Amino acid sequence: MRNIVAGNWKSNKLMNEGIELMDAITKGLPTLHKTEVIVAPPAPYLAQFSAQYKAHAVHLSAQQCSEHGHGAHTGEYTAEMLHSSGVTHVIIGHSERRDRFGESFEVVRSKVNQAIGASLHVLLCCGESLEVRESEEHFELISKQLKDALADVDSAKMANITIAYEPVWAIGTGVTASADQAQEMHRFIREQLGNWFNPQVASTTRILYGGSCKPSNAAEIFGQPDVNGGLIGGAALEASSFLSLVAASEAS
Ligand code: PGA
Repeated sequence: MRNIVAGNWKSNKLMNEGIELMDAITKGLPTLHKTEVIVAPPAPYLAQFSAQYKAHAVHLSAQQCSEHGHGAHTGEYTAEMLHSSGVTHVIIGHSERRDRFGESFEVVRSKVNQAIGASLHVLLCCGESLEVRESEEHFELISKQLKDALADVDSAKMANITIAYEPVWAIGTGVTASADQAQEMHRFIREQLGNWFNPQVASTTRILYGGSCKPSNAAEIFGQPDVNGGLIGGAALEASSFLSLVAASEAS
């Protein structure tokens, strides 16, 4: 099973800066043996990037999609539109969407269903706040987030899902979960997938870690048995650090 290293640019980089970064990433990429590389730039750049970087081993992801299909939803872009623009992946349920844009469990589930229906591969995020971890309710919350988001997904469709565990207290804070904390939660998620689906889904679903993942801690985190790569924010905004993370995945 191949690792994934995915860069989430969030609302960063103007068009020309994004092209510069994509140029540097695609030029610097080694021949990949065990890693899929995904970049999630801001949505306005996706169609152009998909045409411009078609020849390269970088998949393009959106950072979210509409919970609706086509129709009178001003400002929304559908999963099908993304697919028709050459986008292959979509991040759904990122904590910033859940917390700042009020995405409920129901909205996250609708988005997952829209994405699967449009043949996009979903990077499904889950994660707990510091408060939840301190009250030792993190396993329960992660289980609830994932079970609900995947309620309408069957075992066959799980091939289109990758999970990203991103503790909210580690996102953009410089504080990383320890390798043990990451492994403990990833193992738990895998066990839950076995309970909800079957052993094959449990063993073949990739589970990424996200939250202040950077070149200095990637080798240890990617080296954990149930960690299959990372969803990277800050360190994805510089080609050199992003490429170091790809190298750490290749070496893991
Ligand atoms: P970070 O963000 O690497 O900047 O902590 C990760 C994410 O939000 O996906």
